[in-house]
Amino acid sequence: MAMPTESTRVVIFDTTLRDGEQAPGFSLEVPAKVQMARALDALGVDVIEAGFPIASPADAEAVSQIAGEVRRPVIAALARCRPQDIDEAARALAPAARRRIHTFLATSDLHLERKLRISRDACLTAIVEGVRRARQSTDDVEFSAEDATRSDHDFLCRVVEAAIAAGATTINLPDTVGYTTPDETREFFAEIIGRVPNSDKAVFSAHCHDDLGLAVANSLAAVAGGARQVEVAINGIGERAGNAALEEVVMAMRVRNDRLPFDTGIRSPMLFETSQLLARLANEPVQANKAIVGRNAFAHEAGIHQDGVLKDARTYEIMRPQDVGQEPEQLVLGRHSGRHAVQRRCDALGLAVAAGEIDQVYRAVISFGEHRKIVGDGDLRRIVERLRSDTTGTPSAPDDANGGQHVEHVGYGHGV
Ligand code: KIV
Ligand code: ZN
Repeated sequence: MAMPTESTRVVIFDTTLRDGEQAPGFSLEVPAKVQMARALDALGVDVIEAGFPIASPADAEAVSQIAGEVRRPVIAALARCRPQDIDEAARALAPAARRRIHTFLATSDLHLERKLRISRDACLTAIVEGVRRARQSTDDVEFSAEDATRSDHDFLCRVVEAAIAAGATTINLPDTVGYTTPDETREFFAEIIGRVPNSDKAVFSAHCHDDLGLAVANSLAAVAGGARQVEVAINGIGERAGNAALEEVVMAMRVRNDRLPFDTGIRSPMLFETSQLLARLANEPVQANKAIVGRNAFAHEAGIHQDGVLKDARTYEIMRPQDVGQEPEQLVLGRHSGRHAVQRRCDALGLAVAAGEIDQVYRAVISFGEHRKIVGDGDLRRIVERLRSDTTGTPSAPDDANGGQHVEHVGYGHGV
């Protein structure tokens, strides 16, 4: 999958099922991993990192089943630069139509001295041997220099050159601890790609963690600096604060293509359902205000915003909700809402509120919203019925039929 930096196509390497799944609270059983892999295939990712086979028999089994069942994307398995790891990854990947061994070793002095207790020379030897061994099982080998962004640049250039010479076709330079800033990331990729003499023989990849909330910005900066693969995860899950969120990286490139002139193979209308599937399988809700896939990402409660969106959605929406699989026109009624949205919701519910009635309905909605966070469709119906029965003297159902317990959203499907 060699790709020159002049190309605008960015490879989406999804690590939801490896870096994401190894994070606390996100572990999945084998059938759930297979189900998620099928959804990632349908979404259009290029590479699915399905697990770390040496880590556990369940990981190995998940990689093997995914490799056997998901045929279009490349299936990748992680391995340290150790013969047993690489052989186990190769075994698990055997059923795959397209397989990649992803081997890694830390290159920063901090990791070499304090964690691995090996010299730079020993590190270099292990990398070359690891990549060569992986190449015996597949032509598609990725090498990751763990903690690359805190590694000595001269040493990193030697490592990258040696890994490519040994047969690596993708070079990943992870920001393992989410330490780097976007301008630094761009310069870093441009420098390493520029200095390594055989860099044109490999695709460079970014793998950014979110410890400072910069993973998406850093991934985009890496692409600007010459990377043509990004390692991302649905809902941004991953070690500690997570990885760069797939949906955010992809939509940033799509919405701001004027500044980020790159493209991917992702079918963006499937983003929301893929995010929801992961939330259900892992039993971890998506934060409401999460960009792109959060349930508030396209919801409007403030009257001024609702009025703007009803007149022209572009006033407060930079992309169409349906482009990421969310419902259009999500007007949430509450104490901040405006008349225009109340009228629109009544019309949508067939309540036929006349011009003379709307002021009263609006005031009742605002006062109801003082006590409840959200005025749901059922609440709105009861408000209108109550006002009408007060006028005609006909009794109506109490508007507190739910005992004041539920919070009902309006106009769109509930997110997890
Ligand atoms: O964060 C990291 O450095 C990793 C590597 C194994 C790619 O996850
Ligand atoms: Zn990672």
